[in-house]
Amino acid sequence: MHYEDLFHLVQKRRSFRRFRPEPIPREMVRQVLDVGRHVPSAGNAQPWEFVVVEDEKMKKDITMNIVRDGARSLEKDPTMYVEVAVQPHLHTAPVLILVCGDPRLHATFPVWLDGNILVRQSLAICIYAIQLAAESLGLATAWATIQGGSREMAIKELLGIPSGYILDHIIPLGYADEEKEKKTKPLAPVLERAPRRRALDEMVHYEHYDMNKYRSDDELKKFIWSESVTRIPRF
Ligand SMILES: Cc1cc2nc3c(=O)[nH]c(=O)nc-3n(C[C@H](O)[C@H](O)[C@H](O)COP(=O)(O)O)c2cc1C
Repeated sequence: MHYEDLFHLVQKRRSFRRFRPEPIPREMVRQVLDVGRHVPSAGNAQPWEFVVVEDEKMKKDITMNIVRDGARSLEKDPTMYVEVAVQPHLHTAPVLILVCGDPRLHATFPVWLDGNILVRQSLAICIYAIQLAAESLGLATAWATIQGGSREMAIKELLGIPSGYILDHIIPLGYADEEKEKKTKPLAPVLERAPRRRALDEMVHYEHYDMNKYRSDDELKKFIWSESVTRIPRF
């Protein structure tokens, strides 16, 4: 593969949160996951387990748990984007992939490292590879963060996932419903087709950290509140 092909794939991928109902052949799901399992992981611990959900009722039950919990989060912080907190359309994806991790694998790493973080980082890389693989097959994905709150445990119970497992994210997989996605735009800037990326020169430092590029609190605040950020404000 040439650099241009990789760059094009990475740049072209977008998060989609509205899906057409066409089912996705199991073989395609397997292809996507097969890429996921080949990513690097700390200590090559390969902490991931993939729970693939296609059953309509189960998808709705999962979504309802997120909606209920998201609504409670919105009460606490009404500035959060509804789409991100509540994920009401998750069940419209023909396939939900729950990427879980076994935290006991932290035993793979030296004791002075935080094994939990290393497991989570490995899972994150895996998810991104899944997204790229999906994009290469003409399929759409997004991340739905479910970690924290009561929803994580409720969803584990629904699916018989061991309670100690890490379950931070669910990845909806399907064909993008471009028309519906466009209509959601006024509701949530996060859904803009191409959230702006920071310029490369803003973030690359040669030989030493260039303090001229250090962002002050004010600059950071401005960035967080800009249209390009999916923000859950903490300032
Ligand atoms: C760690 C992580 C967590 C995310 N969580 C959510 C989420 O809970 N809900 C959501 O709608 N999008 C989520 N996203 C997707 C981002 O909002 C999205 O990738 C970002 O806005 C850039 O848009 P793009 O994917 O179209 O390039 C998450 C992405 C990452 C990497």
